[in-house]
Order: sequence, then structure tokens, then C-alpha cells
Amino acid sequence: MTIDVVAIRRDFPILGRTVREGKSLVYLDSGATSQKPNQVIDAEANFYKWHNAAAHRGAHQLAEEATEAFEGARKSVAEFLSAQADEIIFTKSATESLNLLAYAMGNAALGNRFHIKPGDRIVVTQMEHHANLIPWQELAKRTGAELAWFSIDLHGRLDLSNLEQIIDEKTKVVALTHQSNVLGTINPLDRIVARAHEVGAVVVLDACQSAPHMSLDVEKLGIDFLTFSGHKTLGPTGIGVLWGKSELLEELPPFLFGGSMIETVTMTDSTWAKAPRKFEAGVPNMAQAVGLEAGLEYLQRIGLSEIHEHELGLTQRFINGLLEIEGVKIFGPTDIEMRGGVVSFAVANIHPHDLGQYLDNQGIAVRTGHHCAWPLNRALGVQSTTRASFYLYNQTAEIDLLLNEIRAAQTYFGRKR
Ligand code: ALA
Repeated sequence: MTIDVVAIRRDFPILGRTVREGKSLVYLDSGATSQKPNQVIDAEANFYKWHNAAAHRGAHQLAEEATEAFEGARKSVAEFLSAQADEIIFTKSATESLNLLAYAMGNAALGNRFHIKPGDRIVVTQMEHHANLIPWQELAKRTGAELAWFSIDLHGRLDLSNLEQIIDEKTKVVALTHQSNVLGTINPLDRIVARAHEVGAVVVLDACQSAPHMSLDVEKLGIDFLTFSGHKTLGPTGIGVLWGKSELLEELPPFLFGGSMIETVTMTDSTWAKAPRKFEAGVPNMAQAVGLEAGLEYLQRIGLSEIHEHELGLTQRFINGLLEIEGVKIFGPTDIEMRGGVVSFAVANIHPHDLGQYLDNQGIAVRTGHHCAWPLNRALGVQSTTRASFYLYNQTAEIDLLLNEIRAAQTYFGRKR
């Protein structure tokens, strides 16, 4: 079934605005952050207008309503991932979720299954966003563990030829992205998860670029932890999700300490509440959770499979168009098998920042730079690329316009130089 993009666009007020002296906005940067439908904006505003109070605190009606709204959002996120509500932790961002995990593991005492010591191994991949690389680098430094990684092959896919050597018997954590924010590659998880579990390691999945675009079932994925960010999933900024298997969350020590995450407190010692409260110190981001819930409801109403199909159609059209333009190089798979709607490319003799600025002058918003994946850029042999990323509200006409403007930029910069 195809999706009704025209009707969808009516729900996103920002898509109706103009930029740069009256140009219609062509927003092709949803990989950085998605735009928000009225349903999300209204849900967040309504929380503040009518229900605002500190959840889990106070006996008054507003506190009760705020708690119900916040916990209702938790249930909706759990349903979105086919998980249990008490396995969902709200954070401020996916970056915080990954830091939470790495710091919490760093807090694990000897005897705890998450205790990491010299000689242990943490495995990542060369295509990680900095958010799923640096926290593990730092944990390795703090504990004396070794950091190892999977490289990418010439097609921008993970090289798993040495899977058994990289995920060795000493491996405690395997942290990888589900879909690269630069290459668009969707990583195959089955073999990685099977090997990680064979050696007793946990698998942490960064689903920032997949959760907004495809249906996920944590049980079927077989992983142990997963994170995604609200703001890429039609939701507000300031909200991230960390999912973890119940039994693992019970054993994982807390990372942030303070109100609401405790069971008992004396002047010298404290004990912790059960997960997820153990990981949610402080007054939580209730309005953002409610906004995220509205975003997930919106995606589910349209249908994640339909959204994915729609984006693959746009991606195929864009890649086919790019392949016809002389001097363009695509970074990442050019077939849409196990691929998402993120395409990074370079145009010969035009610096990505110049191209980005040229496109911006035509009203087209794309991202340029290293996309917070500097080691990957090094492996690709570039300092930066131009990246277009697609979502449910993008139309084929926008893809065609971008292709035309890339050609026009070649003429423009060719003439200038
Ligand atoms: N992580 C976001 C991106 O890839 C910001 O653009």
C-alpha cells in the first residue's frame, strides 16, 4: 500500500514555509532530525497546558495525571518495540542512553556480570556515530579493556570475514549501529548476535536511524539493549529511549543518582528502586515523553512497513539519478537491499560545504560534514560528504529537484572556476 504523502505533509506546518527569499522548503535532512506533525506539537503543548506536574511525586490530581501520561507513554514505547513497559528507560537522548550504559557498566563491581576489567574486550564497528564510539572508548580507557572493531568493505557494508576473531572469548560488549547514518547500510544482526551470545557478551544496538523508519521487535532482533532518539522519530527533542532486557536492567548499576531512583536512603547509604526507575533520577521529561508517544502513534497509523517502502522508492530514484551524473561518487551500497533512506555522496571539484550552501540557496536542506562519524570518513578517504536523508513526508518531486540542482551546481561551479 502506498502512503498519501500530500495528506501527511498537511500535518507538518513547517513543510509549508519558504526559506531563502521565497523558495519552498525541501527538507532532506531527517537523518539529523525529523520535522514534527501537529499531533506531536499539540500533545506536548496540551501536557503543559492541562496536566503539568511532577510525575511520581505529590498526591494531587495533576501529579496523578502527569504520572499517568508519562507511564502511558512508556507503555506506548514498549508496544512500539514489542517490549515490556518496565524495560523502557526514558533518557534525554540516544547519546545519553549510550553514555548511561557505558557509565553504568563502569560502575559495576567485581562479581557483577557487567564488571569490565583489563584484558576484556569491547567491540564496535568502523561505521559508528561518535555517540556509539566515544562512550566505549572511554569505558575501555577507564577499565583497561581493549577496544576492537569491524571494518567496512568496498561497498560500505560490514566486513564480517573475521567475526570469530573480533568477537573473541574475552568480549563483554558488542555495540553497533542498526543503520549507518552516513552509508545507509542496514547491518545484518543474526550472526553478530549469535556469536556475541556464544561468548557471553551483550549486544547494544544503536537504532537511531532504523527505529524511525522500520518496524522493530526487540525479541526477534535477539539483542540485549537498544536505543533510539525521540527527535528523529517525529517526537520532540530532549527525549531518548533505552530498552534493555529486564534481567539485565536488574543487574546493571545506576548511572545518575538522586530523587526517584531510590528505595531507601540514610545519611550514609542508599538502595535503588527497580528498573526503570533506578535509571531515571530527577523529575522526568514528561511532556517530551507524551510528545514522543504521539509521534510513534502517528508512524504506526501510517504504517512502518509502508513508510520504509516509500523511502526505499525515493532512495532508489535518487541513487539511480546520481549514477547518471558524471563526477558523482556515492558512499555506501548502491542497491537498496538492506539499506535505508540516507545517501551520502561527493561531487567532483565541489566541496560539500559549497554544494550544501548552493542547495540551501535553492531551498534544499541537506547535511554536509563528517556526520559525527569521523573514523568512517577516514576509512572512506574523505573529510566530509553531502548527505540527503528521506522520510515519510518527502516526495519524488523533491528528489528530482535535488538531482537537477546538483547538475546545476556543476555548471555553476564549473563556470566560476
Ligand atoms: N546523528 C545525526 C545525524 O546523523 C545528528 O545527522
